[in-house]
Amino acid sequence: MVFVLGGPGAGKGTQCTNIVKEFGWCHLSAGDLLRAERATGSANAELINTYIREGKIVPVEITVKLLLAAMEKSETKKFLIDGFPRSLNNYEGWYDVVGDDVHVAFCLFFECPEEELERRLLARAQSSGRDDDNIESIRKRFKIFIEETMPVIDKFKAKDQLKLISSVQSIEEVWGQTKLLFKDL
Ligand code: C5P
Ligand code: MG
Repeated sequence: MVFVLGGPGAGKGTQCTNIVKEFGWCHLSAGDLLRAERATGSANAELINTYIREGKIVPVEITVKLLLAAMEKSETKKFLIDGFPRSLNNYEGWYDVVGDDVHVAFCLFFECPEEELERRLLARAQSSGRDDDNIESIRKRFKIFIEETMPVIDKFKAKDQLKLISSVQSIEEVWGQTKLLFKDL
């Protein structure tokens, strides 16, 4: 398994799609799974809806359950987990439930300055249909990223499990570096 992190708009989903195409991994986006769960109108739908609009991190019990269910369904067992663990609560919740049963190769971090992320998200807002791609939600998501996700990045770094790629470059340049990490995995 590889965890894929980066600020909103850093290009996590884009690069994961490339990895799937070239190397046949299974891409699971925590945000996509939460949006799909919200759409089912299940007991958690309203809660998820509020959290996403506020850019807040959904309680880990919900997210881990969705991830494990999706992993169960996948034939390939090489997983790209995109947008998770997004907070220390996510991180601890994962290791409490899964422990060392799943081998984590590394955490891939796409680093990009906020001004560029904002520009991308506002451009994406024209077509994404996402109700959190508006300037108020975007600002909240940046704040949560700094406060809650950066400590997770630091944790992987301290464990010598962090691979950092600058994603301010073009999609092709980021891909050029990203694929080097996967070709021998
Ligand atoms: O990764 P993505 O931008 O699609 O995530 C959208 C939203 O989904 C986040 O802002 C957050 O509200 C929620 N999310 C979460 N926990 C995660 C990943 C996403 O609560 N691990
Ligand atoms: Mg995404």
